[in-house]
Amino acid sequence: MHTVYVDAHLDDETRRRKVYQGQIFTFAPRPSTLALIDHARSMIEEAFPGMDPRYAQFEMPVQRYVEIVAPLKPRFIHNETTKGLIREVLAEFGCDLERTYQDVPRLRMVTSDAYLTSGVGYAHHMHRDAWYAAPHAQLNWWLPVYDIESECSMAFHPRYWTDPVENGSAEFNYYEWNAVGRKSAATQVTGDTRKQPRPVHEIDPDPQVRFVVPVGGVVLFSGVQLHSTVPNTSGFTRYSIDFRTVNIDDVIAGIGAPNIDNASTGTSLRDFKRASDMAEIPEAVVAPYDIGPKPPEGVLVYTPGS
Ligand SMILES: [Fe+2]
Repeated sequence: MHTVYVDAHLDDETRRRKVYQGQIFTFAPRPSTLALIDHARSMIEEAFPGMDPRYAQFEMPVQRYVEIVAPLKPRFIHNETTKGLIREVLAEFGCDLERTYQDVPRLRMVTSDAYLTSGVGYAHHMHRDAWYAAPHAQLNWWLPVYDIESECSMAFHPRYWTDPVENGSAEFNYYEWNAVGRKSAATQVTGDTRKQPRPVHEIDPDPQVRFVVPVGGVVLFSGVQLHSTVPNTSGFTRYSIDFRTVNIDDVIAGIGAPNIDNASTGTSLRDFKRASDMAEIPEAVVAPYDIGPKPPEGVLVYTPGS
């Protein structure tokens, strides 16, 4: 049984518990989310002078589009204003900034009509973030930057909350991914050769659920939830922001969504920084999650440009 909570007035702890049970939350726009969207839009629009970013893909060859968005992504991620605005969002949602740790926000663009589906415009196949070594206490926050349609949204495949999926996560080591997979995104223009965890066999995406929220609206869900990028047939590029959080008390207590099929090694926990002051998670807290080997060439925390 799945429940979608719309604008629920719950405290953060109660909300997290429900997310760990596979429930999904949607929220209407709030001042803090609209401020974040305004900021994202100004950065996107600056990168496409004189153009509507949603239709820029039709005005240039794909290589040129990649040249524009490849640097735009890290520019948005590491922008100080961006970090502050995420903190404002968490505060407005009632998260304790001393106990909540945030990953860097991602800016994603999903072009229409299969213009660019790899590398920086990667359209995610069905996956759980957990297969990419995300902690099971991870919450995903997703916001569209411009109006979206069902044809360019994100899909959830809720039956797999309880049905295990045979998948390649056993082959996935987070530190190896940091060393190799992430760096090569901008070079993957015509196809994507990065080794990513995916279902081993074709699985039925249906029933699937898609949420069309207004600009500044939020979809909040567990990183264990099976989800995918809808192949964009809307006729315009979809731009979205997503970021992830964990509550440190849940991490310490080992509370989170159940593991039914994840065998990834390493952990992305070190990517999370305390919302109040960007302090790191103590290694002693990370240690129980740091499973599997550390490859000699592995990188614990990815730093873009390194
Ligand atoms: Fe994901």
